[in-house]
Amino acid sequence: MEQKELIDLFHYNTTNYSDQLKYEKGSVFGYENEIHLVENLNDISIELSYKEILPNLSSKRPMSAKEPLHREQLLNLLYNSYRFKNDKSLKAPSAGGIYPLELYVVIQNVEGIEKGVYHYNREKISLNYINGFSNIPRLNVPSNNFTENVGCMIFFVCNITNMMNKYGARGYRYCLIECGHIGQNISIVSDHLNIESCAIGGFYDARVKKYLNLSDNFYPLYSYVLA
Ligand SMILES: Cc1cc2nc3c(=O)[nH]c(=O)nc-3n(C[C@H](O)[C@H](O)[C@H](O)COP(=O)(O)O)c2cc1C
Repeated sequence: MEQKELIDLFHYNTTNYSDQLKYEKGSVFGYENEIHLVENLNDISIELSYKEILPNLSSKRPMSAKEPLHREQLLNLLYNSYRFKNDKSLKAPSAGGIYPLELYVVIQNVEGIEKGVYHYNREKISLNYINGFSNIPRLNVPSNNFTENVGCMIFFVCNITNMMNKYGARGYRYCLIECGHIGQNISIVSDHLNIESCAIGGFYDARVKKYLNLSDNFYPLYSYVLA
């Protein structure tokens, strides 16, 4: 099977969000030959200050209409989460240094920026207008209806071309992993900037692909909402 065919087979067979039959939270499990790293958790001598190392990263979902986000907040968030600079001060690791992920920003309520779909240029730190809308299209599944109250949505889209050339179909895995790295940056930076954020996996792939005007080698994988 061709690499691209394999990627398409997986990607397009996992777009159906309503396939979830059971909802059970993951439980902690043990093995018979367990080695306790410490007998008593109170004996752990280094208690790193959680606030200094990692802020409280709980998801924040705006349940009613919020004040608009400011253009400056969005700029600071994007710049500090994902950027390319000649001094190599990149903000996330990427397999082979390829950086296959592109961020697309759907602006709903951001002061100083017109509603619409934009592509984020991580080198120039600019937004490139792609598509406008008078009514915001429903891009997320009904259980995510709080996304109507947010200032913007950020879609993580992988451009599979260079990844596939170097790693074959395995490159698709790396793209998923890289979403996690950048997502974590967005969680941390938005917390620091007092922006409410929530990771979103429940969106309609085909609609996102259409509104973002994505070509065949571009796959929407993950998203964040900011308020
Ligand atoms: C891959 C992924 C997809 C997610 N998709 C959604 C989503 O579609 N809607 C939503 O409200 N939360 C979504 N979340 C957020 C989780 O529900 C949330 O992180 C989890 O309940 C733990 O809560 P906390 O983040 O407040 O600690 C997603 C999180 C991840 C990592």
